[in-house]
Amino acid sequence: MELPRIVVNFKAYKEALGKRALEISRAAEKVWEETGVLVGVVPQHVDLRMIADAVEIPVFAQHVDPVRPGAHTGSVTVEAIKDAGAVGTLLNHSERRIRLDQIEVTLQLLREADLISIVCANDPVVGKAVSDLQPDAVAVEPPELIGTGISVSEAKPEVVKRSVDLIEGVVYVGAGVSKREDVVKSLELGAYGVLLASAVAKAKDPYSKLLELAEGVITAEE
Ligand code: G3P
Repeated sequence: MELPRIVVNFKAYKEALGKRALEISRAAEKVWEETGVLVGVVPQHVDLRMIADAVEIPVFAQHVDPVRPGAHTGSVTVEAIKDAGAVGTLLNHSERRIRLDQIEVTLQLLREADLISIVCANDPVVGKAVSDLQPDAVAVEPPELIGTGISVSEAKPEVVKRSVDLIEGVVYVGAGVSKREDVVKSLELGAYGVLLASAVAKAKDPYSKLLELAEGVITAEE
């Protein structure tokens, strides 16, 4: 399956829950239809099935637990997200870190289920370490820039550059990505795509914001 160039994480934002999650996801689908730039959405677990049933764009979970189905109260399994319609999951987000051995086990479970893995890392060296476990993609996000609106591509372009140099395979970058220029620069520095949250999740008009970001992908490719 084609990996999205823009991945929007809804986190636990109330502005990206329920009806509003659906509104953002439909806006992302519309942007894909109009521009050809594939946008993936990452709703909260409780909204996964509703969103996956409603849109044709890729829908990811925010996290899965490293357990097989069974007696694990409160756990979210790979089988559960797949059944809900997710095509894959984020893993090891800065706000949901897990140990390296847990990443390894979960990646195995995801492979068995034929689901996509995007493993997050807080810097390029950690990104390289997790890329050795052969996920489908690695997303590097400096935690101190997350939610600031100051893009990694502006504040720390060397992080983007080094991530692309060190990591073999698909590299997303994120933290503070919120404008068209942020996308252009991230991709010009060699990233495959961007992972972002607040700029879209909290936008008054998610469609316009997503369109602006998608235009950044198109500009970078010209
Ligand atoms: O998962 C994306 C995220 O951590 C970046 O957040 O709000 O800075 O785009 P934000």
